[in-house]
Amino acid sequence: MLRNTKDGYGLVAIVLHWTLAVLVIGQIGLGLAMLRVADKRLSFDLIQWHKSIGLLILALFVLRLAWRLANPQPAPEASLKRWEKTASAAVHRLLYALLLALPLSGWALVSASVLGIPTLVFGLFLLPHLPVEVSEAGEAFWRSTHHLLAFAAILLIAGHILAALRHRILLRDHVLQRMLRPVGARKRERT
Ligand code: HEM
Ligand code: HEM
Repeated sequence: MLRNTKDGYGLVAIVLHWTLAVLVIGQIGLGLAMLRVADKRLSFDLIQWHKSIGLLILALFVLRLAWRLANPQPAPEASLKRWEKTASAAVHRLLYALLLALPLSGWALVSASVLGIPTLVFGLFLLPHLPVEVSEAGEAFWRSTHHLLAFAAILLIAGHILAALRHRILLRDHVLQRMLRPVGARKRERT
């Protein structure tokens, strides 16, 4: 029940998927809001939270990737057409890539900043800066990269959610259920 099998996702993969889903969607909302609030003090505080949550996402992503590599990958739902299998595998790979690239580009952005504002992760420890060039040009490059990746993530996540809803509402197959109930639990229920 904890581990994945060829038939479906285990509890650990499911908990990691939903924890990261909530954090990433919240993080996008926070990122968009923090740059648009008028109160400068509040904006600064929200950016500090954004940096800490982003690093938590990076840590959970490493855990998730390790768990995925240490587990069998569930075979796609049998009812899926060939293009659906190819498209979902491609989107999942891109989502994994974004889960790594987004926090790293954010980290590079604060490391390249000429202001050199320290990042105290959840008020617990000081984040070391990445070895990137500290300059206005470097900061601008990482800022555009971070923004571009964030908007790519918004589009991809919207597509991913719509696809899950299509399976649930229109096709009425088990694609969404696979990510809601661990594989062992579903099998026991059916017997
Ligand atoms: C309401 C939001 C979401 C829903 C309904 C949802 C639904 C699902 C479902 C049903 C699957 C299983 C697909 C299959 O078995 O082929 C899945 C897999 C996946 N989801 Fe989501 N998801 C959501 C949010 C997110 C977010 C925000 C991310 C990441 C940024 C994400 C990343 C992934 C990845 C990487 C997989 C592939 C897992 C693997 O096979 O290792 N999901 N999602
Ligand atoms: C999955 C993780 C992350 C997501 C989804 C994300 C998303 C975003 C979004 C949507 C924005 C606003 C972009 C805009 O309005 O144009 C933003 C800005 C920002 N992010 Fe992230 N971010 C993540 C991780 C991080 C990390 C780890 C750091 C730093 C350690 C970071 C630092 C920043 C900073 C400093 C800004 C403001 C940039 C500016 O002044 O224009 N982010 N992020």
